[in-house]
Amino acid sequence: MSLDSDLEKILIIDFGSQFTQLIVRRIRELGVFSEIVSHKKIISSQIKTNIKGIILSGGPLNVYQLKKNLFDKKILKLQIPILGICFGHQILSKFNGGQVKQSNHREFGLANIFKKRDSLITKNFFKKKEPTKVWMSHADQVSKLPKTFRVIASSDNSKFAIVESKLEKFFGVQFHPEVTHTQNGKKIISNFVFLICKVKKNWSSKNQKIQLIKELKEQVGPNKVICGLSGGVDSSVVAQLLNKAIGKKLYCIFVNTGLLRKNEEIQVVKTFKKKLKINLIYVNAEKEFLKKLQNVSDPEKKRKIIGKLFIKIFERYAKKIKNVKFLAQGTLYPDLIESRSVTGSQTSKIKSHHNVGGLPKRMKLKLVEPLKFLFKDEVRKLGLELNLSKDIISRHPFPGPGLAIRMPGLITKEKINILKEADHCFIQALKEHGLYHKIWQAYAALLPVKTVGVMGDNRTYEYLCLLRAITSEDGMTADFFEFKKSFSQMISNKIVNSIKGINRVVYDITSKPPSTIELE
Ligand code: XMP
Repeated sequence: MSLDSDLEKILIIDFGSQFTQLIVRRIRELGVFSEIVSHKKIISSQIKTNIKGIILSGGPLNVYQLKKNLFDKKILKLQIPILGICFGHQILSKFNGGQVKQSNHREFGLANIFKKRDSLITKNFFKKKEPTKVWMSHADQVSKLPKTFRVIASSDNSKFAIVESKLEKFFGVQFHPEVTHTQNGKKIISNFVFLICKVKKNWSSKNQKIQLIKELKEQVGPNKVICGLSGGVDSSVVAQLLNKAIGKKLYCIFVNTGLLRKNEEIQVVKTFKKKLKINLIYVNAEKEFLKKLQNVSDPEKKRKIIGKLFIKIFERYAKKIKNVKFLAQGTLYPDLIESRSVTGSQTSKIKSHHNVGGLPKRMKLKLVEPLKFLFKDEVRKLGLELNLSKDIISRHPFPGPGLAIRMPGLITKEKINILKEADHCFIQALKEHGLYHKIWQAYAALLPVKTVGVMGDNRTYEYLCLLRAITSEDGMTADFFEFKKSFSQMISNKIVNSIKGINRVVYDITSKPPSTIELE
């Protein structure tokens, strides 16, 4: 599953549209492999016979500003079907002898389009009676079509809303069929993929499993691979894939930082070592972490100490294994796309992230990143195909620094124990009430304040427990989950009554932004 792999695919040439990832997703949802490449990085000689169709994405550029060296026009002469979306549509027309100009009416949002004639690209796309609603987002538009092109549909503002050149199998749409606002937009994409490019379905979890295992065997050969296992979805899927591909040549290292959820280390060892028979090295480093974190309350210091110590321990054990050539990581497709981003926008650093797989660069190991062409939901499906339990696959995310960043202020063994119990109590209740899978992430935190309470006839003076439960798509933005009063009442009673050290429970009702999901 790389640019060199012989899997048939639809190639998306990205011109910087915010919707490019959506195009790939739509094609993969149809069961066909598709991948993105930047317009700056692809030349016609790289396009092999397994590329059955090309989609030119939208983008913020202007066709007249697109420098010659930033798009290889020979790609248009390869006799491969091409669908141009928005800016891609303008490129197709412009480079085939048409014209593009700034339109008098910029079109952003929904527009009605009207059918002019039949085409394969619009088979079963138009509604029978009223006009079809599509999502537009453009300032420029095609003003004159190339000679071989003809109009398939128009809107009030865009005469050339859908066009085709039957001869060359070129199609252009001024709107975005990949966004859900476009009625029936998926039909345009599936017509292009199946009726025009005639690609066969090849993208299923089963195929991915077979292909990835084959590629891993080839890549790794007789060498040893180490993998930092956290028990989270991505590292678990990577470990299981490698386990199937290379068996005992895989060495997974699981570090118990002492900051894990209740009984997590027991579960990880039970699942991976005993059940899946993965070569697992369990490192109990609880004491080392606690010692290093003594008297530290600054969130960034905590994160850095944990990250550094984690690498140190990881390296220590990796050295013991000897002759290791590869390090396996759970890099996903969105990480890859972002790091190669066409616009290359930089965001300011909010937190120093710690990631089990991503750190030991100085170990000079070659990287194995089997998930780098997959989206998170594809990884989950692949995990099920690899016989990982639903429990592992649908777990809420858990950050590398663990409970340390859910305990503002000083970290002590006593506080960790209280927090582990509170978190366990909350998560169990969510599962029992059928709420766990409706929530993207939930946890308990322990705040560094004590408040007065009364239990029986006695005064109490104990910690404050904060509960957080959010809904989200990808963790970039989030909203708090609304519990029914009966659940809130039940969980607050349960925590206060069953956990010594907590006498008050509060619920975090901030969204992200302005807050973040974790407290530190
Ligand atoms: P924030 O707190 O930044 O969290 O809104 C967004 C998501 O990232 C998780 N998170 C981490 N994951 N290492 C990780 O692997 C980290 O250091 C880390 N910090 C935050 C967080 O749990 C949420 O899902």
